[in-house]
Amino acid sequence: MISVSRLHFSYDGKSEVLSDINIDIDQRSTAIIGQNGAGKTTFIKILKGLLKPGSGKVTILGEDTAKRSAAQWAGVIGMVFQNPNDQIFKKTVLEETLFGPLNIKMMPKAARENAMEALSAVGLADKTDSNPYDLNLSDKKLLCIASVLAMNTRVVIFDEPTIAQDWQGMERIKNIIKALKVQGKLVMTVVHDMDFVAECFERVIVFNEGKVLLDGSTDYVFTQTDILRRACVSPPHIVQLGALAGLRRVCLTEDEFVLAYREKRCEELGVS
Ligand SMILES: Nc1ncnc2c1ncn2[C@@H]1O[C@H](COP(=O)(O)OP(=O)(O)OP(=O)(O)O)[C@@H](O)[C@H]1O
Ligand SMILES: [Mg+2]
Repeated sequence: MISVSRLHFSYDGKSEVLSDINIDIDQRSTAIIGQNGAGKTTFIKILKGLLKPGSGKVTILGEDTAKRSAAQWAGVIGMVFQNPNDQIFKKTVLEETLFGPLNIKMMPKAARENAMEALSAVGLADKTDSNPYDLNLSDKKLLCIASVLAMNTRVVIFDEPTIAQDWQGMERIKNIIKALKVQGKLVMTVVHDMDFVAECFERVIVFNEGKVLLDGSTDYVFTQTDILRRACVSPPHIVQLGALAGLRRVCLTEDEFVLAYREKRCEELGVS
């Protein structure tokens, strides 16, 4: 769905922030991980068309992104900013959520329905008249998510959606990502929370100093502990626990862990 070839990028024209990135992004939900300053946000801003590649090519659904402006891509690719204050600019929660769909010329009735549905999904349906700047950081982030969901784009990119979220906010975000996958959308997320990655994403791309250090299915990537260490990433707790328990396969969820542990114990005890 998205193809990136020989991508290079520099902010100052001297030091490269992204060097020779070659990635084909398919339908799998994809997490982009790596230490602070690795170039993750820069990379997704290029996908979104907010930054232009220094050199190289990005195609979305077979079309070169350079052929259309960021505004023209807005109906195809939605992005939740890392910092909500960079995204929020309207006076009420409802206006903020309506801006995106109306901006891509959605009919007002559909825009309102989408906005309300998105606000319900993030738990802000009772705050439509609130001033976004009065919300706490967690709700600001959820509002930014709702604003993007309301646009109903084919590709949805989140930059650190789990920032400041408690258990309920995390559950809401997990459910949103699961629903987007069911709807056949391409979901990409920049994230530092590896437990969240294990639970929600099928593919993981590890960035390190502006390069792709590792790329593969989530269970494969989380067994590459030496490479992950170079990118300052610890595997998810469930994977670490599985290794300590001597499980033969990588488990990414509690259910998988319980099953694998039971199988192992049965084998050890010689029972079927
Ligand atoms: N607007 C900018 N102007 C100049 N340099 C920038 C700008 N934005 C980011 N950088 C630099 O580019 C590099 C990559 O930054 P980027 O924000 O893409 O990293 P990141 O992987 O998203 O990090 P984090 O996990 O901290 O969000 C860093 O060295 C950063 O300081
Ligand atoms: Mg970032």
